[in-house]
Amino acid sequence: MPDKTTIQDHEHLPTKLGTEFVIKFSRLLKGTTLYDRKNVNIDRLIKDCLQAINPVIKSEGHLFIKIVRDNFFFNNIKINVGADKYPIFKAFLQEMRKRRIGEIEFSKVIEGEPLKDFVYLLSGLEENNESNYLYVEKQLEYRDIEGVEVGKLEYFRDEEIFVDSEDLKRYSKEIYFKTIGLVKEVVDNINNQKVLNVRKAKRLMQNAVNAIMQDEATLLGLANIKNYDEYTFNHSVNVAIYSIALGQRIGIPKKHLSHLGMAGLFHDIGKTKIPKEILNKTEKLDPEEWEVIRAHPVIGAETIMRMKEWGELSTRMIDGAFEHHLRYDLKGYPKLSRKRKLSLFGRIITIADFYDALVRPRVYNRFPYVSEKILGFMLERSGKDFDPALVKVFVNMIGIFPLGTLVLLNTNEMGIVTQIQEDSEQIDRPKVCLIYYSDGEYRKGKIVDLREIDETTKDYKRTIVKALDPNEYNINVAEFLI
Ligand SMILES: [Fe+2]
Ligand SMILES: [Fe+2]
Repeated sequence: MPDKTTIQDHEHLPTKLGTEFVIKFSRLLKGTTLYDRKNVNIDRLIKDCLQAINPVIKSEGHLFIKIVRDNFFFNNIKINVGADKYPIFKAFLQEMRKRRIGEIEFSKVIEGEPLKDFVYLLSGLEENNESNYLYVEKQLEYRDIEGVEVGKLEYFRDEEIFVDSEDLKRYSKEIYFKTIGLVKEVVDNINNQKVLNVRKAKRLMQNAVNAIMQDEATLLGLANIKNYDEYTFNHSVNVAIYSIALGQRIGIPKKHLSHLGMAGLFHDIGKTKIPKEILNKTEKLDPEEWEVIRAHPVIGAETIMRMKEWGELSTRMIDGAFEHHLRYDLKGYPKLSRKRKLSLFGRIITIADFYDALVRPRVYNRFPYVSEKILGFMLERSGKDFDPALVKVFVNMIGIFPLGTLVLLNTNEMGIVTQIQEDSEQIDRPKVCLIYYSDGEYRKGKIVDLREIDETTKDYKRTIVKALDPNEYNINVAEFLI
């Protein structure tokens, strides 16, 4: 009988080799957009990549990467993507989807120059052209490059695929506002004791999950936009979005993600029973008023229990409502008579709720905290208020300069963060849309990548100095972001 350790090692090997290849190959692919063929950085990336390819070919005969939906297969075995590697895989998936390439295979030991040819070829492909794979094959043949093959990306009927990114953005926006509509409807229904269309709600959350999987940036961006008017509804939707995005990163299956979204959406449902005068009070609350506010998790759980239509979903939703102020060490509220462990959904929603509540201005808290401070605070409270493992993943996901942050650069330019780098080491170098002031208003300038290096000084072209408060400059971030 083979001993356990060898079996385990063997099982992990495809994940290890596949992950290494995807990381190095996607870095190389990214590199082609930043540097030209003769740049030393490209040679370094090529060398790294060769080290991930050739040993595999020598030991396994070939290296074959295939994408099926959101999954990667390495020599036909599924790669288990770790939470820390998730952003890299996701970015790579997006790059490949754009080019409609779903398979890459190396069947011979390859050298630097042909690999360089291949990767620049891949990088320069048209977006959304179904016959890209044929073009690559022809070009490889023409250049006498053997042992490299690509295949078409396969789609499945139930997948909504958007041909261009503007469509996708529009879809994400639609989902966001439809979801706000749904929350309003539910609240109205509770107040008027009407029955809710559960099927519709479930379908909407499934669409939200799909949208987050394909276009996390737009939805996280929408969640980060500060809006004074409809805090309660926006807050519910944002908590759902942050929860789904976090759940996705730690590998919760798609089916359960929509349940998580529902639980996030209705975590504060108990607040509908709190008088508006107390909820919106700008002065300090007295102890009795606090008591009323603190009752909302219990009232929420009871409200959901009474909504029979939710069926099997209701247990999850009750957890979200009941547990979201309990805290990881159970020192929050409501006070428990018997200790119990928080559910995974409860722990996720706690984090999403806390972050969204602090980052947005409320009636009694006009200026939002800078998210860097909040995330720092959350890390400090890790293990006490929050699940330590989840908080780490969350902080990485939001980044110190989240989407939509208005920033001042060392060039004295101002800009708005439009894309976070998937490499967590480059989290302080996002893509930024420059804005400039002319004819009495702020206008959209070009988008710059803060990783760009100045060829003469060999230093970064631009660096963030600090985050600015958009309200102070009268800038509506949403206009620039979406
Ligand atoms: Fe709450
Ligand atoms: Fe909340």
